[in-house]
Amino acid sequence: MNSADEATPAVFDLARIESETFIQFLDFHATLDSTNDLGLQMANDSLVVAPGLVLTAAQTGGRGRGANRWWSTAGGLTFSVLINPSVVDLPAARHPQISLTVGVAVCEALRQLIPQGDIGLKWPNDVFLNDKKVCGILVEVPPQRRDILVIGIGLNVNNSLKSAPAELQATATSLRDATGQDFELTNILIDILQMLEQRLDWLSASDPQLARRWEEFSLLRGKTVYIDNHQHDIAGICQGIDEEGGLLLRTPSGIERVTHGIVKHFQ
Ligand code: BTN
Repeated sequence: MNSADEATPAVFDLARIESETFIQFLDFHATLDSTNDLGLQMANDSLVVAPGLVLTAAQTGGRGRGANRWWSTAGGLTFSVLINPSVVDLPAARHPQISLTVGVAVCEALRQLIPQGDIGLKWPNDVFLNDKKVCGILVEVPPQRRDILVIGIGLNVNNSLKSAPAELQATATSLRDATGQDFELTNILIDILQMLEQRLDWLSASDPQLARRWEEFSLLRGKTVYIDNHQHDIAGICQGIDEEGGLLLRTPSGIERVTHGIVKHFQ
């Protein structure tokens, strides 16, 4: 554990996180710009131990996919997990499936926590609660270190979207906003990490249950989906997600298989 520069955090029980999860190295900071930025820097250090966890109680400059920012305030959960895919025996061609796998793990952890909630996965990895985004996931490969993946997860927990910019209030939520309850951050983090370990095991074993889970949680089947994938926009009716993680859209010119891009809109 590395938290020498910080007072012992009141909000996290670091010893429990280390003893109850697969994490072998924990780096906690009371505040941090971005856990992914620090995770990417650490990955360039050949001595870094994976699986590792970069955790902060207050992230001030969170990044999202593309040019997006990740809004969070005190009470939110923001962390990055460093994994070495060779440890889980994963060829590089299957790295994109990690996004969906992480999304499934978060969905399953939330389903256990809030059984009455309507939990869904927006391909490839946004997690929704009651039709609003509650969790964002950013998976990055350090430029100098292709054998490490940095999996950033932001989950709105005890923070309220009431203090967020107006455009976010309409589309995002937190566990507290959705349920009226407060949650123990350490417990949720441990639940997510334990589920992540299990689902990464499924991924490395090519377990067919995994694709069934992402299909089960998918919010997009049967919906008209608009994708921005930088080269050209695609719109079509979602036919599902295949076993390799590709999004299948029926377009006027036939079925298109989408492997990257951002869902701008679905209805
Ligand atoms: C998205 O929705 O576009 C992804 C958001 C990812 C946010 C998390 S919070 C922890 C980690 N650190 C970051 O800077 N981003 C990710």
